[in-house]
Amino acid sequence: MTSVRVRRKKRVAYTVPKLNDFSEQTIRAAFATVRHDLDEAIEALKNELDTLDEPDAKKAPSKADAKWKEFRDAWKARKTGVLTQIREQWLRVVPPQTKALVGSEFNRLQVKVDQAADQMEAYARDSVIWESGVRDFAEALKGLPEWKARKRIDLGLDITLPGNRRPLGAEHPIIKTMNEMVSVFRNLGYSIEEGPEIETDYYNFESLNFPPNHPARDTQDTLFIAGQESKPLRDRLLLRTHTSPVQIRTMEKMKPPVRVVCPGKVHRNDAPDATHSPIFHQIEGLAVDTNITFCDLKGTLDHAMKAFFGSSVKTRFYPSFFPFTEPSADVQISCIFCGGKGYRDGGRCPQCKASGWIELLGCGMVDPNVYGFVDYDPKKFSGFAFGMGVERIAILKYGVDDIQLFFQGDVRFLEQFG
Ligand code: DAH
Repeated sequence: MTSVRVRRKKRVAYTVPKLNDFSEQTIRAAFATVRHDLDEAIEALKNELDTLDEPDAKKAPSKADAKWKEFRDAWKARKTGVLTQIREQWLRVVPPQTKALVGSEFNRLQVKVDQAADQMEAYARDSVIWESGVRDFAEALKGLPEWKARKRIDLGLDITLPGNRRPLGAEHPIIKTMNEMVSVFRNLGYSIEEGPEIETDYYNFESLNFPPNHPARDTQDTLFIAGQESKPLRDRLLLRTHTSPVQIRTMEKMKPPVRVVCPGKVHRNDAPDATHSPIFHQIEGLAVDTNITFCDLKGTLDHAMKAFFGSSVKTRFYPSFFPFTEPSADVQISCIFCGGKGYRDGGRCPQCKASGWIELLGCGMVDPNVYGFVDYDPKKFSGFAFGMGVERIAILKYGVDDIQLFFQGDVRFLEQFG
């Protein structure tokens, strides 16, 4: 049996010997030896990288880098690498009848060498992360995605542990209430319109028939944007105090028939307490068409209240005043806590203050003056409008005793609505 002697030079580089004969046996044995030496070189390099001990972690990358490159060059360098040596000294000189065998063995070896070089490069990188990771864990964690499973286990990271479960989110009770209310009106054929939260005095007040310089701007506790004094009053910016300006914006851009609901956030300069919040939500409604009457308004809101609070709820329309509606009304519903009786549990009902009624929203027939601002013909068209507070409805519906709970973000409160 012919053996191939491999003279090991220092480190992994070595010189391939001359083949004494070109028998199939000799050729196969020669390649087997080289493959075996490659395996040994791989193991040796892994060992070196595993024990790489560089006191200064910052220097470790260059050390590990140099090592895998040395390996790569020993096997793949264009002039002196093992592959080149084999190509020159074996492949070139074999007689034609054994060329195919040497060729296929060579290709097999080349694939193995390429894989090994890639593998060693990755291994060297791992080692660096490992080394610096021990010293500076936070820094090392940045490399986590690149680590091999072996390294993660070495670091004590149990990759079989289940991941962190994120609890499912849920709709906020105000958004949920708002969506439910909006969908009642969508089912009646209303579409949805939205408007800006930063409004002009014109849209928030003037076009809604609040006379200029009328104290209404104060009664709605308006938050004005600073530094607007040089502008004419109607152009001054403020945080909208109600969703009614969306009525105007809608009528400016579409002609009757109009049926819209406008959900949104509004702001008032109110100190927070159990029943007040400087930020809250409203839903505005507007229907304009030919021959719309107060009966349509009553029927629509009676239906909506029954849809929100149950079919046994009664509604009552109580005279009121808003500059943009004439006549105007406050809508009251029969008290959902005492069934409209005014007393319960042998005493006065605290929710309706023993009246049997709870005031819920404002409404009315659109004032003809408002049509003047949007170029609608008041002789041709009539319509109704309404505006309701979402928090107020949610408070009643869910029996919440403090409006602040909606804004404090306490998950124990919020998850009850999930
Ligand atoms: N904008 C009123 C408010 O914030 C609510 C309101 C009342 C809206 C009557 C309307 C309405 O559309 O017709 O207090």
